[in-house]
Amino acid sequence: MSPQRKLLLLGTFVHSKTQQDLDFLHKAGIAVDAHGKIAAIERDAHDLSEVKARLLAKLGWDEAEVDVTEATEGQFFFPGFVDTHIHASQYANAGIFGKSSLLEWLETYTFPLEASLKDLSKARRVYSRCIRRTLSHGTTTATYFATRDVPATNLLADLCLSMGQRAFVGRVCMDRPDMNPAYYRDASASESVEATQQVIDHIRTIDPGFDVVSPIITPRFAPSCSAEAMKGLAELHRQTGLPIQTHVSENPGEIQLVAQLFPESNSYTDLYDKCGLLTPRTVLAHAVHISEEEADLIAHNKSKVSHCPCSNTCLTSGPARVRWMWDKGIDVGLGTDVSGGYSPSILEAARQAAMVSRHVAMAIEEEKEKERAKLTVEEVLYLATRGGARCVGLEDKIGGFEVGMEWDAQLVTLNEVNGDGEVHDEDDDHGFVDMFGWETWGDRVAKWVYNGDDRNTKRVWVKGRLVHRRK
Ligand code: GUN
Ligand code: FE
Repeated sequence: MSPQRKLLLLGTFVHSKTQQDLDFLHKAGIAVDAHGKIAAIERDAHDLSEVKARLLAKLGWDEAEVDVTEATEGQFFFPGFVDTHIHASQYANAGIFGKSSLLEWLETYTFPLEASLKDLSKARRVYSRCIRRTLSHGTTTATYFATRDVPATNLLADLCLSMGQRAFVGRVCMDRPDMNPAYYRDASASESVEATQQVIDHIRTIDPGFDVVSPIITPRFAPSCSAEAMKGLAELHRQTGLPIQTHVSENPGEIQLVAQLFPESNSYTDLYDKCGLLTPRTVLAHAVHISEEEADLIAHNKSKVSHCPCSNTCLTSGPARVRWMWDKGIDVGLGTDVSGGYSPSILEAARQAAMVSRHVAMAIEEEKEKERAKLTVEEVLYLATRGGARCVGLEDKIGGFEVGMEWDAQLVTLNEVNGDGEVHDEDDDHGFVDMFGWETWGDRVAKWVYNGDDRNTKRVWVKGRLVHRRK
């Protein structure tokens, strides 16, 4: 990307220090260079003009060459969210799932919509809206499933690049004639691999270093793929080093189907391993019903899990056990799984992760384990940022504020309630998170997690580029 103006961001910054702890930087500043990288961080100054002076002096930058953004008292900068599992193609169906569960939901709602996006003008409408909407909710990185149509998948990649969203874009592979509708399937295993290669080639022409948009190899899930296709896609991974995404162990009917279709495999996860798909660059969505052995296998192979709590409730799939996966050493991130999940917001996914963990806890008898199962605000925000970054192999670039990382961030604002119980500007819609002034910073962040929405996200940057601004 061409160099852009340098940035100085001044105010309060909040990000994950560890899985359990947030770091709050006050009277702080971050300098971002012309390539979108964090060049310096200063904190604990007397005031913001001192921070600014310190940063400019440290870097030898002239004030005329930088754009300055000052957060007001009470606003804070937060890392952009990482959505590790979202079907851009299904965005038009968000909220439409009735009482269905996975397999009938695919047939009834999902395959018809996905197939219809071979109409490129329809794809453009849906994809543009999906990107615009997720950006406005602070999603700076999205790991997308598109459809099996190559031109429409290429279009999604083009749109992510032009709208500035960091993205992994996957052409969905599904070649099994007995398991996919005749109107929506690959003709053969080799079509799955060749069509994936075409999308890789396209993305290489628009973003040669895969700096913002990268291809991702995408066998839809085991029931929709032949072993030959899965093995061919694994071979493509070995040749290219590109990441892989798929679904695993989401729903009991699906698990039974896998056992029926692949009787030679020990488990759903074992099948992926045997096909060569269980790699350190693999993101497995759901993992709701995996066994101890499957979790150990995932941990051993350093594969990642995308936890999709909203979807798992909508489709009555079940509650995934994040603490248990963490205990096994598995990296976990959050996915909205639109439109299995109804919401394109990772803030919503974070809060649903907290809620689902409480349902997991309620089913545990032993008091200490019950308590441990519950996820804190700090932990769900870790999942939404650094956890997600680890899942997609970008932990050195995004998910937190450190020198050398890239400026993928959002500016968050909350209502300040005055002495009369009014908020500053009732017409200017800042959502419904009301601050009375006595909250600690931890409380502020908790109130945002549980009641915040896109109205609180004022600005969003990816790699230093301003990609969303709320009026
Ligand atoms: N399994 C196979 N395809 C899908 C899909 O589109 N969404 C979800 N949630 N699970 C799947
Ligand atoms: Fe999904």
